[in-house]
Amino acid sequence: MTGFNEMILVLDYGGRGKELAARMIRKAGCYSEIRPGNMTKKAIKAMNPIGIVSVSDGKPGSVPRWLAFETGVMVMTVNGGPMDDIASFVKYECKSKCEYNIDNYIKWQLEAIKTRTDGEDVLLALSGGVDSSVCAALLSKAIPGRVHCIFVDHGFIRENEGDQVEAAFSGMKLDFIRVDAQDRFLAKIKGIEDPEAKRRIIGAEFIEVFKEEAKKLGNIKYLAQGTIYPDIVESNWNGTTVKSHHNVGGLPAALGFKELVEPLSGLFKDEVRELGRKLKLSKAFVERQPFPGPGLSVRVIGAVTKEKLFMLRRADAIFREEIETAIKKPEDRPGQYFAVHTGINAVGVKEGARTYGAVIALRAVDTRDYMTAEYTQLPHGLLARAAARILSDVPGAGRVVYDITSKPPGTIEFE
Ligand code: XMP
Repeated sequence: MTGFNEMILVLDYGGRGKELAARMIRKAGCYSEIRPGNMTKKAIKAMNPIGIVSVSDGKPGSVPRWLAFETGVMVMTVNGGPMDDIASFVKYECKSKCEYNIDNYIKWQLEAIKTRTDGEDVLLALSGGVDSSVCAALLSKAIPGRVHCIFVDHGFIRENEGDQVEAAFSGMKLDFIRVDAQDRFLAKIKGIEDPEAKRRIIGAEFIEVFKEEAKKLGNIKYLAQGTIYPDIVESNWNGTTVKSHHNVGGLPAALGFKELVEPLSGLFKDEVRELGRKLKLSKAFVERQPFPGPGLSVRVIGAVTKEKLFMLRRADAIFREEIETAIKKPEDRPGQYFAVHTGINAVGVKEGARTYGAVIALRAVDTRDYMTAEYTQLPHGLLARAAARILSDVPGAGRVVYDITSKPPGTIEFE
């Protein structure tokens, strides 16, 4: 499936660090896959791994004894212990040729995409996020001129985002279709306060818009998706759904597509970023922080209006600019940072007169996996500069607060 002859299997027996183990194996030069520990001997043998790394919490009996004796391959036991020896396990015990790297993944995928699509055109829903952007860049290199990317501007994107996405793809050999559906989406969620209802309505409307645009292009057989490896691991674990992911399953069925192309489905997020850099996708796209599908609509608490969105967009841009000016290296910045329109007003005073303006919350978190997060202890000077600029430049903003809630008990987003 991967185009690499060698693979090391990571078997999950309930310990933490299965992803870390899989990534370390890949860093050492061998492709790796994660599977649940209840896999049968037969299924393991069918995958033909050159080695197995078992990950458990270290409790006696959590890893079956037969694993080491009956699979016929080298097994390493990181069960609650350190993973420092993974590289030498890969190289010296499994005797991997160490041919797995992103350059080789690209070479193999360029061929695989050509073969899979067999001269047909491909359609992609491009959000401008890292995964769909890298997917578009890879597809356009593999099958230039046969990729149609639909970018739906639902009106909840960040300041200048639509132009930035369009500019990033203007030099590529693909058909970029930008759909301005702002009024349509805003009308659909008018007066809706419940966050889940907003998400549902926006998701359904997205499918409608996408279908309409796809129809205009005629009968395209293939739908490409930027699904990445953690989406697959999270979506179907031990046969039960842990977290249903928008990329896996739902969209293609709702759109009526049967033929899927998922060229990133073997990669972890850091590998997707590396691939993007190799394809010369601009830094701003490769380093992007996650952004919810329903966008700013879930960063306006309660009912969304054009005015609130306008205010939030500007405040958010100012906050991000202040962070990016103060913290030069992207890797030193918080994992996610943004502004929120809280939907409430506070009394203030400006030039001697009473004001009653919106409370804007600023949020920045440090996180590895977005499942847990610590609020970022940003320097007060930076926060003060952002607040002063927001209060002077954003009409209608009356007060700025900084959120110091970690996850758990909070979530990263407010809604
Ligand atoms: P929470 O708020 O649950 O967010 O702590 C965890 C991560 O998921 C992102 N997020 C979303 N992404 N659609 C998405 O594609 C959504 O509806 C959505 N809601 C939250 C959030 O930005 C954070 O990175």
